[in-house]
Formats: sequence, structure tokens, C-alpha cells
Amino acid sequence: MHTHTEIGRNRTGAHMSPVLTAQMQDGEEEAPILPGADGQPERADLAMKLDYARESDPLGSVPPPATLTGVVKSGVDMVTGKRPQVLIDKLGERLAFERGGVRLYDALLVKCASADGAGLSEQEVQTLEAFRQQEAAHFALVAEVLRELGGDPTAQTPCADLVGVESAGLVQAMNDPRTNLLQGLHVMLDAELIDNASWELLIELAAAAGHKAVAERLEVGLQQEAVHLQTLRSLVARPTLEDAGAAAPATR
Ligand SMILES: [Fe+2]
Repeated sequence: MHTHTEIGRNRTGAHMSPVLTAQMQDGEEEAPILPGADGQPERADLAMKLDYARESDPLGSVPPPATLTGVVKSGVDMVTGKRPQVLIDKLGERLAFERGGVRLYDALLVKCASADGAGLSEQEVQTLEAFRQQEAAHFALVAEVLRELGGDPTAQTPCADLVGVESAGLVQAMNDPRTNLLQGLHVMLDAELIDNASWELLIELAAAAGHKAVAERLEVGLQQEAVHLQTLRSLVARPTLEDAGAAAPATR
């Protein structure tokens, strides 16, 4: 596995072909991207996208929780609030993302193995393995909370669908055999940034919906995710600066 950034025969830049670049820029004048003076898009494809956006169905729906079906299960803490489906949707989202997080860490650990000592220390790899286990535990925790609120953890909610599509690029980049360990760590950092913001919102939402006990149980997830994020920031920054021949940064 290549672990350093190298200079090579890269011909993708516009500077490689000034004549063709000038012709391409002429084409831009013929098909402007910005809307016209009346606010309507001038390009046919933009008008078509506008039509689709106005006419498309939403990204699915949330199955009714026990609260709405009237099916009272023993031990179920009925989901409350005017629109309980929002909490169920966001729990479904977290469930999908944590499952994806486990798979991302699995693929990252393959890169650790293939870097053959040229990447992280044994202790750092063990830390990533522990993070992988925590993502799996978060998945189990969210599934349990969903069940307790009368939801169905096997149902794909709209936001679960959304993060699945959003994460497709992360999964693709992580599983590309050409991406090196540092690039894999960068992918993982992106995922952790999303995860941290999402856990914060989920806990805020659970508390606002009157589920204080649930919010407190989810707090462990946020605390562990904060450590993941801080660690990934450092694991990306240090080798990047080292690759550039610069000093390693102070630990954040
Ligand atoms: Fe994480």
C-alpha cells in the first residue's frame, strides 16, 4: 500500500491543455449556470430538476409506533409529543448510521493490516478496534430504545434512507483498494463529524419529547462519539503533516 503523497504524471488539470480549456470556457457562456433576471433557470436541465423536485414523492414514511396503533405492549414507554414520528425517524437514522459505522471501521481495519506497520502503532489499531465495538454497541442501544418506545428497529425510516444514500460515498471511498490508510482515516473522520452532530440532536430531541430517561441513556453514545472524533482528528492530522515534512501538531 502506498502511504505517501507523490508527484507523478497527472494530466487532469486545465493547465495541461490551454487551447481546449479556452474552448470549454466559451461553452460556459452558452449555458450559464445561474438563474436569469426573472429568477427562472435558463438551462433546460435546471427547469427539469425543478419539476421533479415539485412533483416527487417523499422519502418514505415512519411506521406508526405503538402509541398511534393503540397496540399496548408491556414495558413500552409510549412515545410522546405532538409528532412522535420525528423521534422514531431520527432513531431509525442513528440506527442505520451506526450499522454503517461498524462496516466502515471493518474496512478501515483492513487498511491498517495492509499498511503493514507503515501506518499506526499497535495501540492505535486497538483503539480503532474498540471504536468499532462501540459503534456496534450504539447500534444495539438505539435498537433497544426504539423497541421500548414501541417502534420497529427493522423498518427503514425516511432519515435512515437519507443517511444510507449520503454515506454511499464514504463506503465507496473506504472500500476502494487504492485509497491508503491515511485516506481511509480521513473518510472515518468525515463519518465521525456527521455522527457527533447527529447524536447531539438526537439527545436534544429525546429530551424535548419528554423522554428524559432515554436522553440520559443515549448520552453514553455521544460521549464515546466525541472521543472517536477527537482521536480521528489527531490520527489524520499527524501523518498528513509528517507526509508534508512539517512538525506533528499538538494533541487536540
Ligand atoms: Fe463513532
